[in-house]
Amino acid sequence: MVEGSYPPKKLLHTLMGEAMTVPPIWLMRQAGRYLPEYRALRREAASFLEFCYSPKLAAEATLQPIRRFGFDAAILFSDILVVPDAFGQKVSFESGNGPRLEPITNAAEFGRLRESIDLDILTPVFETIVRVKEALPSEVVLIGFCGAPWTVASYMIAGQGTPDQAPARLFAYRNRALFQDLIDRLVAGSIDYLAKQIAAGAEVIQIFDSWAGVLPADEFERWCVQPIKAIIAGLQSRCHGVKIIAFPRGAGSHLENFSARTGADALGLDTSVDPAWAATRVETGAVLQGNLDPLALVAGGKSLSEATAKIMKEFGGRPYIFNLGHGILPETPIAHVEALIAQLRAGT
Ligand code: CP3
Repeated sequence: MVEGSYPPKKLLHTLMGEAMTVPPIWLMRQAGRYLPEYRALRREAASFLEFCYSPKLAAEATLQPIRRFGFDAAILFSDILVVPDAFGQKVSFESGNGPRLEPITNAAEFGRLRESIDLDILTPVFETIVRVKEALPSEVVLIGFCGAPWTVASYMIAGQGTPDQAPARLFAYRNRALFQDLIDRLVAGSIDYLAKQIAAGAEVIQIFDSWAGVLPADEFERWCVQPIKAIIAGLQSRCHGVKIIAFPRGAGSHLENFSARTGADALGLDTSVDPAWAATRVETGAVLQGNLDPLALVAGGKSLSEATAKIMKEFGGRPYIFNLGHGILPETPIAHVEALIAQLRAGT
């Protein structure tokens, strides 16, 4: 094909408000352990962080699911926890146990963090983006990302994943000013980080607030809505016209008007949201994304085709991006991903 005659970048059209019979498709965590080629590549780095900071390996991991499935978007291969690393907090990933950080339990430990993000540490991430852009088919959109301040802070405080982020919620109640300071630093650092991702070639941004769902209403407003709104405003003033997808996982009834309240161009829906409720109650004008249950994709067969059909019935007539309601699970059979894509592209 000659330059200019490629099919349009579907995801960008959707984010500009176009409804399509066959929506753009990508899957959260589409690069990862369910792919044998990822598992083989992963063995080339001693640690997960080293893997994330190797532009050659991270670019290859980003491209693997595009080559195999022809998704409409690639998502930068990295992790939300490179940001604490760039604030001077030690981060590691132990296989089977998830992330480990030096926890922050008091003002003295908080005092060891840098005031502002050290973007030099993240240079390999920007190099990954440049490499991916060189190899990516021109109709595929590259998504950059960061964790939302609340979710990143919750790992920084607890030092690890917890079932309900109780350590960060308690820290926020007991140390309001200090926690606000942490969130403000993360807002400023995320704007700088995302602006550089865009300068390197990212075309769309997703902000992952994976732990938004544990917050009561007032805390949700303060630690989820306001910081995301500040990032979006800051980024849009520096990168005019950039499209941003917000994913406040587990937000439930707080989802109503979330895009209008934060300025997000699209709203990612988690698995627990009823598509019929979302189609009428969330926001009539907003672009929606999601929300197939990752376990339905593991199960496959009729459960998968029916769940997919239900989602398409509710969201088919509006600007909508097909995705899961959370990340793809490592035990997902590749054949089920292929069947899902075939069903969607057949327009059923
Ligand atoms: O394909 C993609 O989506 C891009 C890569 C990506 C990863 N993490 C790779 C990864 C993205 C976008 C993330 C985001 C991320 N990281 C989130 C937000 C989304 C979500 O899932 O809620 C969070 C909370 C993290 C923090 C994190 N990273 C945890 C809790 C874990 C351990 C759990 C797990 O899935 O293993 C990670 C590790 C991680 N990040 C892996 C991958 C592929 C697995 C590590 C490995 O391959 O050895």
